Amino acid sequence: MQLILTPTAEQASIAAARQIAGTLQGLPHPVLGLATGRTMEGIYAVLAQIHQTENLDFSALTSFNLDEYVGLPPADPRSYHHYMQTRLFQSINANPEYLHVPNGTAPNLDAECAAYEAAIRAAGGIDLQLLGIGDTGHIGFNEPPSAFDTRTRVVTLDEATRQQNAAMFGNDPSAVPTHAITMGVGTILDAKHLLLVATGPAKANILAAALEGPITPDVSASAIRLHARCTIIADEASAAALSPELKDQATRIA
Ligand code: GLP
Repeated sequence: MQLILTPTAEQASIAAARQIAGTLQGLPHPVLGLATGRTMEGIYAVLAQIHQTENLDFSALTSFNLDEYVGLPPADPRSYHHYMQTRLFQSINANPEYLHVPNGTAPNLDAECAAYEAAIRAAGGIDLQLLGIGDTGHIGFNEPPSAFDTRTRVVTLDEATRQQNAAMFGNDPSAVPTHAITMGVGTILDAKHLLLVATGPAKANILAAALEGPITPDVSASAIRLHARCTIIADEASAAALSPELKDQATRIA
């Protein structure tokens, strides 16, 4: 596990975007696992900027998003399809055919999940998987408990998650869909490299639980410590509850 600490959230976004850019430039057919949420907004803004100013090329990119709400069509402004379109996809030169987000309105959701797993395998697996962390310790929408061998499936969202994500739904947690499709913890662990990004004081306790507490299905983000190649980028605010020992081992970016 490699921990990178930055003074600010903005610097964490830049560091994460540079890692992603390195993967894109280093492989002829890069496959990225992408995430949503507020933490990712800054990262995608930096990536779009690097595309504009440095011609970072996305034309060979294949991507798979972690999750999508069940019942929201792609055009719904609260869907993760729409998030990805407006936050990143419309600003880069990627081929839309190779950009995958689970379809939360598929008539047969189980078949959609199986097809998603098959598409990841057919692409040769994910080279770099970007991850945020939810208040419940989830990665993707892997709510507690999520076994470490789970695959892409339909899950029931925790009340805490519906509250955390209510801003997009008129601040009404009851308007947040009750279910989502998510890659499983096992799907995520199959990626060749994991990159978890956390920013802001609200993430401090759950980040410490994930990185220094027990490795348990009750905190699905703790599973990343089982991965041979795992990078965590955290700003000082989200790293506030980490032990001095762990912080001493970190790489600091000024
Ligand atoms: C959602 C997503 C997660 C993400 C989490 C954190 O629940 N399904 O993949 O990690 O939000 O969101 P934020 O970055 O807004 O704190």
